[in-house]
Amino acid sequence: MGEPLDLIMTRRSIRKFKSDKIPDEVITQIIKAGTYAPSALALQPWAFIVIQNMDFMQKVSDYCKPIMISLMKDAHDGMSDEFRELLSSEGYSIYYHAPLMVMVIGKSSSRFREIDCSLCAENMMLAAHALGIGSCWIGSTEVAYDNPEIMAGFRIPEGYSPVGTIVFGYPDEKPDAHDKKPALITWIK
Ligand SMILES: Cc1cc2nc3c(=O)[nH]c(=O)nc-3n(C[C@H](O)[C@H](O)[C@H](O)COP(=O)(O)O)c2cc1C
Repeated sequence: MGEPLDLIMTRRSIRKFKSDKIPDEVITQIIKAGTYAPSALALQPWAFIVIQNMDFMQKVSDYCKPIMISLMKDAHDGMSDEFRELLSSEGYSIYYHAPLMVMVIGKSSSRFREIDCSLCAENMMLAAHALGIGSCWIGSTEVAYDNPEIMAGFRIPEGYSPVGTIVFGYPDEKPDAHDKKPALITWIK
């Protein structure tokens, strides 16, 4: 298997991080790799909020965690059971105490902003992996999107809205590459 494919197939979500900071120039490099993603009409509707303030991350986590616990109460699909157990564990932060979080935001007026920004985010996670940095997309932040007080802390520029938050850090765990479900493919020849 060639190196790029190997990189794609060995990326895992990382949920245990060392406290070491990621240098700003490395963060910039990861974001730059994100911006090489395709985007509809080459509009590149993305922008980024780089958060290194652990107190702020803790505050958002404290707000989101009980809401997530309540939302996950009756979920049993996928890794729900495992995730519910994690959420309720002692000292759990929805951001896994990572030293960095990047919120990818997109131009609200851009029709394909969610797709464009998600492609950008995946590029960033793969670039991070190539640099020995772990990442995990944290969808749990979404439960705070309708709380103006929490959202003010993200300082999202006018005309943009959040697409996703991803935590990054040097991994303190090494999950094995895993098998994915076989792809459902319809061939039309
Ligand atoms: C949209 C989205 C939201 C996610 N939200 C969370 C989350 O809130 N917390 C978390 O620990 N992992 C989250 N994940 C990571 C997934 O759980 C993970 O990608 C999945 O279990 C597959 O594992 P892998 O990334 O190691 O291949 C999210 C992933 C995506 C794409």
